[in-house]
Amino acid sequence: MQLSPLQSRLAASAIATVLLMILYLSLFKPQFALAAEIHNPPPIILDESIDASPEGADIWARGSMYQAEFSAFDKSLTGRTPMVTRDTVTVTNNVGTKMNLNAGDTYVFVFDSSQLNSREEDDARLELRGEAETSSGSEADDAGGETKLAKRASGTVYISANTCLQPSSNSTTDALPPQLTLYVSTSTDNTSPGPSADSRKQDVRVFESGAVMYNMTASDDVYVAVAASNSTGDFSGIYNVQVGISVDGWYHSYNESNAEELFWVDSDTSSVLLMTQNLTTDRDHTTEQELMTTRPYVMFAQNVENPSISGLENSFCGLNNNAQIATVRNGATTSQVTTGMTMMGAGGLPKQQFYFSGLNSSSTYVGILAKNVDNSTNTNIVGGGGSVYRTTYFTTKSSYGNCELIFNLTFCDQVAYAVPGNNIKFPTKDALGLFYDSYAESLYEGFNKSMTLIPCDAPNTQQFSLVRNCTTCRHAYKNWLCSVTIPRCEDFTSNSSFLQPRAMNATFPDGATLPADLLAPYTHFNNQLSFLTSRNPLIDSTVKPGPYKEVLPCEELCYDLVQSCPSAMGFTCPRSWLTGFNTSYGTKTGSEDGSITCNYPGSFHFYSAATRSVAVTWGLTSGMALMAFLAAW
Ligand SMILES: *[C@@H]1O[C@H](CO)[C@@H](O)[C@H](O)[C@H]1NC(C)=O
Ligand SMILES: *[C@@H]1O[C@H](CO)[C@@H](O)[C@H](O)[C@H]1NC(C)=O
Ligand SMILES: *[C@@H]1O[C@H](CO)[C@@H](O)[C@H](O)[C@H]1NC(C)=O
Ligand SMILES: *[C@@H]1O[C@H](CO)[C@@H](O)[C@H](O)[C@H]1NC(C)=O
Ligand SMILES: *[C@@H]1O[C@H](CO)[C@@H](O)[C@H](O)[C@H]1NC(C)=O
Ligand SMILES: *[C@@H]1O[C@H](CO)[C@@H](O)[C@H](O)[C@H]1NC(C)=O
Ligand SMILES: *[C@@H]1O[C@H](CO)[C@@H](O)[C@H](O)[C@H]1NC(C)=O
Ligand SMILES: *[C@@H]1O[C@H](CO)[C@@H](O)[C@H](O)[C@H]1NC(C)=O
Ligand SMILES: *[C@@H]1O[C@H](CO)[C@@H](O)[C@H](O)[C@H]1NC(C)=O
Ligand SMILES: *[C@@H]1O[C@H](CO)[C@@H](O)[C@H](O)[C@H]1NC(C)=O
Ligand SMILES: *[C@@H]1O[C@H](CO)[C@@H](O)[C@H](O)[C@H]1NC(C)=O
Ligand SMILES: *[C@@H]1O[C@H](CO)[C@@H](O)[C@H](O)[C@H]1NC(C)=O
Repeated sequence: MQLSPLQSRLAASAIATVLLMILYLSLFKPQFALAAEIHNPPPIILDESIDASPEGADIWARGSMYQAEFSAFDKSLTGRTPMVTRDTVTVTNNVGTKMNLNAGDTYVFVFDSSQLNSREEDDARLELRGEAETSSGSEADDAGGETKLAKRASGTVYISANTCLQPSSNSTTDALPPQLTLYVSTSTDNTSPGPSADSRKQDVRVFESGAVMYNMTASDDVYVAVAASNSTGDFSGIYNVQVGISVDGWYHSYNESNAEELFWVDSDTSSVLLMTQNLTTDRDHTTEQELMTTRPYVMFAQNVENPSISGLENSFCGLNNNAQIATVRNGATTSQVTTGMTMMGAGGLPKQQFYFSGLNSSSTYVGILAKNVDNSTNTNIVGGGGSVYRTTYFTTKSSYGNCELIFNLTFCDQVAYAVPGNNIKFPTKDALGLFYDSYAESLYEGFNKSMTLIPCDAPNTQQFSLVRNCTTCRHAYKNWLCSVTIPRCEDFTSNSSFLQPRAMNATFPDGATLPADLLAPYTHFNNQLSFLTSRNPLIDSTVKPGPYKEVLPCEELCYDLVQSCPSAMGFTCPRSWLTGFNTSYGTKTGSEDGSITCNYPGSFHFYSAATRSVAVTWGLTSGMALMAFLAAW
């Protein structure tokens, strides 16, 4: 047979390779015999394996900064590395490295001690100085100067990992695959930590809900292993894990106890509004304005019936790949979620709000607040793997669908809750919001005119009060007005005792009436106007929502109005034991579970611990009739 030049060169190189392999095998047979997983697929993720993910995550391709130790062969031949490190991957500071694991697999990651120097320069210098003072001389004399420095540097190493993908159960049960396990060793006697290594020479951490965090002080190479246990259950599929090692801070993190809380503001049949804690306590205008242009957080949401994120709740990567709803998925914003900054709520400080639409009715969801460093072109930074914070549960209203969530109004800017709606007459929340907002504003104009008769600009001695002035009166009136003209709506089926039934025998927007059994408990109230009509007649004549229940405005709104405005204006509040009070105002007391028993501007669905303790200390003693405004309702 005649070989072409190319073929003969190929043959020659093939023979050379085989000879080399024989030489290698004869020299290092024992180590190879120990390496059990010789038939395993390559540990490095090739681009083809990306499609194993249901989401086809492109982030996997981005995390390709790893360097596999394919040079192990050469090192072995020159005798510098005693071990065959086929499954060892070198990790670079602040670079996430992704690996696929089958059940029973263990992969080792090495963090080279030279990278201890890659932290902030000043930091490193300080630590080098400190080390020089305490250490009793170095013996690394034959190594280069650079190596000497590297050997001496020491500091905290932050090791973290996220499970991006896990096997799924073959059966219909909700059994979860075992969590991965992290092994860490700094001992040169244990450069392959894992389930079979000496347990005294390594630290072990089992992942918690798909994530692990481990920090230590290191001055030498750090060997980190991630192992997937031999699963005993009936699972199929692989694990995918992202490991991040950093000398600067956590690459991945999770913190359930973090104060960066997430509040459920309110929801309707298909949407929900959530809000973060104040993002600053700094009253500086520039700081506030800068913050208002940012979007520091992202969110994930999941119907609790859907198990796709079970076991991955602490993993940013796992949530990003598996959560039902995400604000940002692989760098692109999704249409189901709108997020923005707002200053509404108590204190008027910047907060981030999230509006989710397209939810199922009468369902419970879990919302998870998270953060990733907002740089789609470069995730190789501290925190680049993402942080996971609080979870908050919320439910959607029933499919009667006559409570609709409105927010972002122009005049009543503190209104963010469900109001009586009609999806036929007001098909969008914006149209409904505009209806209520302009009605409230038109009422305010009349009041504002009468305010011009009060001597607001007079010197202090002539003002109606030393601590109250026209500004505080306008503010109190606006708070009160928006709360009483824009009622907070709850499902008719909700039967909490503090809710006031409204428009009980009216028809729903689709023409249906309440089933007799739901109406039965209220029949003895049928002669009472407060049960048959809305607080505000315009709602019955224009919106026509049908039966709903109202969360009454908090009594404090009325007391505050009376205290803040000149008595000449004639504002009075009903006394709490007289007829009319119970159908006009609610109280903050009597709520055991923290659920909202009365409505006030900027209220959340649940009182935060701070607002719950507000005591009702209003000393209104003189006999007061119903306010003129209330008489009309
Ligand atoms: C690890 O982190 C915790 C909290 O962040 C800290 O208290 C501890 O000192 C750190 N340990 C080391 C070895 O740096
Ligand atoms: C998995 O099982 C194999 C064979 O039974 C064993 O050699 C290996 O050590 C086990 N691995 C783990 C992580 O338990
Ligand atoms: C689970 O299902 C996959 C494919 O359907 C199969 O290959 C695997 O053997 C099953 N696992 C067990 C433990 O039965
Ligand atoms: C978690 O958050 C709490 C409260 O903000 C903080 O004290 C704690 O250090 C955080 N833990 C970690 C590991 O960051
Ligand atoms: C924001 O800060 C204000 C004033 O400090 C406080 O009253 C309010 O409760 C805080 N907001 C939240 C959501 O806790
Ligand atoms: C709504 O319910 C359907 C059917 O149960 C389910 O397939 C879907 O995932 C749910 N959607 C949401 C956003 O919860
Ligand atoms: C993202 O990272 C790139 C490369 O490091 C950098 O040039 C850019 O300024 C970063 N962008 C943001 C918004 O931080
Ligand atoms: C609130 O309204 C402003 C302008 O009226 C708009 O730009 C913004 O997107 C709205 N926010 C939401 C969450 O709809
Ligand atoms: C109320 O009146 C004051 C003073 O006359 C005026 O500055 C303010 O803009 C008015 N507010 C509204 C909402 O009309
Ligand atoms: C009104 O009173 C408040 C607090 O009592 C004060 O901050 C504000 O400056 C006063 N406004 C005017 C116009 O005097
Ligand atoms: C409230 O309604 C639920 C079902 O929606 C019912 O189980 C419960 O008994 C009701 N409570 C009262 C006090 O009627
Ligand atoms: C509701 O009840 C009132 C008083 O009982 C009655 O006059 C009215 O016709 C009823 N409306 C409907 C829609 O049934």
